[in-house]
Amino acid sequence: MQHDKILILDFGSQVTQLIARRIREAHVYCEVHPCDVSSDWVRGFAADGRLKGVVLSGSHASVYEVDDKAPEAVYELGVPVLGICYGMQTMAQQLGGKVEGSHTREFGYAEVRARGHTALLKDIADFTTPEGHGMLKVWMSHGDKVTELPPGFKLMASTPSCPIAGMADEARRFYGVQFHPEVTHTVQGRALLERFVLEICGTSPDWVMRDHIAEAVEKIREQVGDEEVILGLSGGVDSSVAAALIHRAIGDQLTCVFVDHGLLRLNEGDMVMEMFAGKLHAKVVRVDASELFLGELAGVSDPEQKRKIIGRLFVDVFKAEAAKLTSSGASTKGAKWLAQGTIYPDVIESGGAKSKKAVTIKSHHNVGGLPEQLGLKLLEPLRDLFKDEVRELGVALGLPHDMVYRHPFPGPGLGVRILGEVKKDYADLLRRADAIFIEELRSTIEPHSGKSWYDLTSQAFTVFLPVKSVGVMGDGRTYDYVVALRAVQTSDFMTADWAELPYSLLKRVSGRIINEVRGINRVTYDVSSKPPATIEWE
Ligand code: XMP
Repeated sequence: MQHDKILILDFGSQVTQLIARRIREAHVYCEVHPCDVSSDWVRGFAADGRLKGVVLSGSHASVYEVDDKAPEAVYELGVPVLGICYGMQTMAQQLGGKVEGSHTREFGYAEVRARGHTALLKDIADFTTPEGHGMLKVWMSHGDKVTELPPGFKLMASTPSCPIAGMADEARRFYGVQFHPEVTHTVQGRALLERFVLEICGTSPDWVMRDHIAEAVEKIREQVGDEEVILGLSGGVDSSVAAALIHRAIGDQLTCVFVDHGLLRLNEGDMVMEMFAGKLHAKVVRVDASELFLGELAGVSDPEQKRKIIGRLFVDVFKAEAAKLTSSGASTKGAKWLAQGTIYPDVIESGGAKSKKAVTIKSHHNVGGLPEQLGLKLLEPLRDLFKDEVRELGVALGLPHDMVYRHPFPGPGLGVRILGEVKKDYADLLRRADAIFIEELRSTIEPHSGKSWYDLTSQAFTVFLPVKSVGVMGDGRTYDYVVALRAVQTSDFMTADWAELPYSLLKRVSGRIINEVRGINRVTYDVSSKPPATIEWE
């Protein structure tokens, strides 16, 4: 890989990944590493001559609570450094300035006055005051602040409550901002970060997914040689894009294993087969394990127990298939590699700084430990990419837009969307009701944005409630099941709002489900936000 690169040192802020995403959106390659890497590590990282700049992230902590510092080498490499929030404070402290704690936190919107005509903020402003001062609308979140500039620095930005809201040493190209340019609330944040990486660091914007394919293909071929690879295909975005990419690289040396646990959405299995076996001509083994899964789930109603059973069976079935493919047989030399759709956020979270507590939701598809058990080497061709980039890559590889921009679907599938005991009849009813909901979301366009309600929601689905209610249809009384519709909007799935879908849309969905799915006579809409509710019902 010949790309210029930016190093982001993570001091544990909730929004560090956003710094990386903004820089990647400027088509510049960057990597996030924990702040407690050593100076030797930093020098090693820079040894190939491609490191063009360093960003020090914010932190959830105060400089007085933790003694996290940037490794000294960061200031000695001769490359530009940008400190954000805590990153600016630690820079100030390490270079001879002063930081003071404060009892009051400044949190939220602020207007910052640009000062000193620095290269970083030149001509970047949201408005100009009558006195001619350039002003920035920013987002702040800090208690401590820099109270004395380090030698060599000048003032770059200020607010009435934070007189040193930005500082610059233009000879060394060291900059600090107390506000957060990586969040979208900071209107010029993107312009500021682009200015830093493209102009001040002088990187070339050559990180483009379309071009990445050739590079990734070459890397896979180099890694794998003429050996064979197996991959667990779930139909989700990550495993699908990984499969398409690896197939592009090594064709028939890849075998995909698709385990159908009987808890997939309507026609999902057939669609996955049609796409990968039909259109891409990839080798796909479809394992119909629905009887096994539904059999083991019979009589079990506890959500966690259901998850455990599904997870265990999934690994068992996958292992059994993999074992067939790893032993040399008539059709295969025996696979030596297990491919996984691990993406960059998983990598960052598992390698986080010791001070950071990452909250991760694990999926049973993330079959940890399997490569060792099966004696396989691990192939992870997406481990440098963010989700947005994985999607772009998927489209560039020719996967259908609808597949690549699909809402997330939990590993245990409909198993956690049928409350209590899972039965095949329930799953069949739920599949049909859910397909109607999704179809209507896709076909209903919101006029202001011109987008469909599917694209305007982050996740939407139907939940099967194993209770019966009375209804009337024609001349007869019905006594049938109830479903709940759930649609949420969220940026990180940690918190979520229920979506304010138009009544007309809800009415159409409810009418169609009740008329078309015999066995369901009542439809409700879930108006609970997360927290305190979760997105899934189980
Ligand atoms: P909750 O329900 O916790 O869901 O608000 C947050 C996100 O995680 C997904 N989810 C799962 N994904 N295995 C998965 O692979 C699971 O067991 C699981 N449980 C929840 C959920 O769909 C949502 O996107």
